[in-house]
Amino acid sequence: MVIDPASTSGANTYKLLIGSVVPRPIAFVSTISEAGVRNLAPFSFFNAICGEPPVICFSTSMREPRKDTYLNIQATGEFVVNIVSEAIAEQMNISAADWPHDRDEFEISGLTPLPSDLIRPPRVAESHVNMECKLMQIIEVSAKPRGGSLIIGEVIRFHVEDAIIDSFRIDPDKLRAIGRMGGDEYVRTRDRFSMIRPKYENSFGNVAHASACSGELQFAVVRRLKPHALDLATLRPLDRIHQRLAIPPPPRLPRPRRLPPLLHRPPRGILGPHGGRNRHRMVPSL
Ligand SMILES: Cc1cc2nc3c(=O)[nH]c(=O)nc-3n(C[C@H](O)[C@H](O)[C@H](O)COP(=O)(O)O)c2cc1C
Repeated sequence: MVIDPASTSGANTYKLLIGSVVPRPIAFVSTISEAGVRNLAPFSFFNAICGEPPVICFSTSMREPRKDTYLNIQATGEFVVNIVSEAIAEQMNISAADWPHDRDEFEISGLTPLPSDLIRPPRVAESHVNMECKLMQIIEVSAKPRGGSLIIGEVIRFHVEDAIIDSFRIDPDKLRAIGRMGGDEYVRTRDRFSMIRPKYENSFGNVAHASACSGELQFAVVRRLKPHALDLATLRPLDRIHQRLAIPPPPRLPRPRRLPPLLHRPPRGILGPHGGRNRHRMVPSL
């Protein structure tokens, strides 16, 4: 199916985006109004966009009056991005209702405000990671009904719970972040697998071993001279190849037309506890 956004309604292009760009991380944003009212709201048009300095962005959709988060950041230039773990999914969902501007959404959601170090908006104590941010820029992307404003902020302070971090590495099993699918569906981040990225080297027959799914699944990736000629067809379970293959240079194989089925749909054995449908619906309980 070919779809031209120019002749498609905004409601439908929005559906295409939220159904395809999945799972989306969730910025649980705390702000404070000029009058001092604390606000919380989730945003899944969110990502990290620069490592040095650390910069994140998220987008608030268009509506009149504008969302409290947008107004507060525009007025104060400050916000905190709190990471949503499974444990606070319900509270995050409660804060997504359209509460009036003068209601304190920490009180409504039952989450605990903790003072930030460098900015006025408080952070969420129950989040394992908080990022204190200073506004860098707001880009008004589109004023159409499903348009939005991109808010770009520099992270000026990270707060990471001691128990989930080791040598700057955050343990995803302890973070237990959730992500958003389309509509009211979410994913947990417990169903993961790894793949070592092959490196280009100017020789034939290099072998990189990749272990996947915490040892449940292992591959040997056979690399060839040109990166584009990486032979995905030679991905095989390591138990059949054994450690460090002493193989002759692989013959020149045609580029595979499609990825092996394993990369499309992992076998049942490596799926999460929910048989691969690691998703659940969450409808606002209000
Ligand atoms: C998981 C989740 C993700 C959301 N992502 C966005 C988003 O990316 N952009 C947006 O404008 N609204 C998003 N919303 C809706 C806002 O959270 C909602 O409009 C909220 O009431 C805004 O609050 P505020 O007026 O206090 O800023 C999302 C809601 C949920 C539950």
